[in-house]
Amino acid sequence: MIDNRDAEKTGNSARSGVKPGSEPSRRFCVAPMMDWTTPHFRYLARILSRRALLYTEMVTTGALIHGDAGRFLRYHPSEHPLALQLGGSDPKELAYCARLAEQHGYDEVNLNVGCPSDRVQNNLIGACLMAHPGRVAECVAAMRESTDLPVTVKHRIGINGRDSWDALCEFMETVAAAGCRTFIVHARIAILEGLSPKENREIPPLKYDWVYRLKARYPHLEIVINGGIRSLAECHEHLHHTDGVMVGREAYQNPWLLASVDPELFDDPAPMASRQDALRAMFPFIEAELARGVPLNHMTRHLLGLFHGVPGGRQFRRHLSEHAHRPGAGLATLETALAKVHTDGTRAPISA
Ligand SMILES: Cc1cc2nc3c(=O)[nH]c(=O)nc-3n(C[C@H](O)[C@H](O)[C@H](O)COP(=O)(O)O)c2cc1C
Repeated sequence: MIDNRDAEKTGNSARSGVKPGSEPSRRFCVAPMMDWTTPHFRYLARILSRRALLYTEMVTTGALIHGDAGRFLRYHPSEHPLALQLGGSDPKELAYCARLAEQHGYDEVNLNVGCPSDRVQNNLIGACLMAHPGRVAECVAAMRESTDLPVTVKHRIGINGRDSWDALCEFMETVAAAGCRTFIVHARIAILEGLSPKENREIPPLKYDWVYRLKARYPHLEIVINGGIRSLAECHEHLHHTDGVMVGREAYQNPWLLASVDPELFDDPAPMASRQDALRAMFPFIEAELARGVPLNHMTRHLLGLFHGVPGGRQFRRHLSEHAHRPGAGLATLETALAKVHTDGTRAPISA
């Protein structure tokens, strides 16, 4: 892993996935997810797709400014192209953190305007910013001023009390006027009181047609659609109407889906022929992390979905749940778990 404190000290850029000055492709993105899209999950995601654009978990400006920035910003060089998602609403702080993102070699910096949690609302972070398009525009302008990285915004189609089409257009136009040209749109509103973050990903209805209408109305903007996408067939459908798709829960819970992204969406060869190969390709990384003192279960909890829906997958998960936290757990534990998976079910032709 890169210790990004070194990058901070030297100002060296570790950016390698995207040519300087060029934009990463957002045709297929893996969504930012707190506690889920950690560097360990992202390493697996990158083994399965060379072309997907990966997003970090949200990091608040406060955490970067007052906490251990090196720890929050670390990633493995293979993760490129990689976007850092920031949570915040102070233009100066966001500008500082966007510069940090560039110094640490990220390929994009994204502002979170979609998270509905109470904790972040109290700090004017996340979806509540949909009520303050002018403030979001100031943040975007300050971030663009401080970095050459693309600055993008991930948002909802509205929030309760501000969920009209006109309010959404006002938001887009105000933020676009500040120079944002890429919008990742979670196609449902957030209800800021009374629903948990999980409910806010399930209860407000998806309105894909609103996102399609945004692309039709603002063809010069890059529009990436997000929310409830579960297969590559659905991705193909959305790509008739939008520039890109972002997949969250399905990519985490069934990461083998990612193995079809390169052939199906980019016409590139699939990087991995089987789930077993993908897991084995992680072994050197896992070994290095174990040597750094990372417990096996901190990594394996992000790999449990790999054998989702295949014979022996449940036994694989059970073995890891029962053994990966034990002292001395290591690659042998993973080998034993792998032996529980029936090879036949996993070398099937890759499909969504
Ligand atoms: C566990 C979890 C954590 C999430 N954390 C974030 C986050 O840090 N930033 C963000 O913008 N969205 C976050 N989201 C929302 C996702 O990025 C995405 O917008 C949402 O899950 C809808 O996409 P999906 O239906 O493909 O999962 C999170 C979602 C989940 C399930």
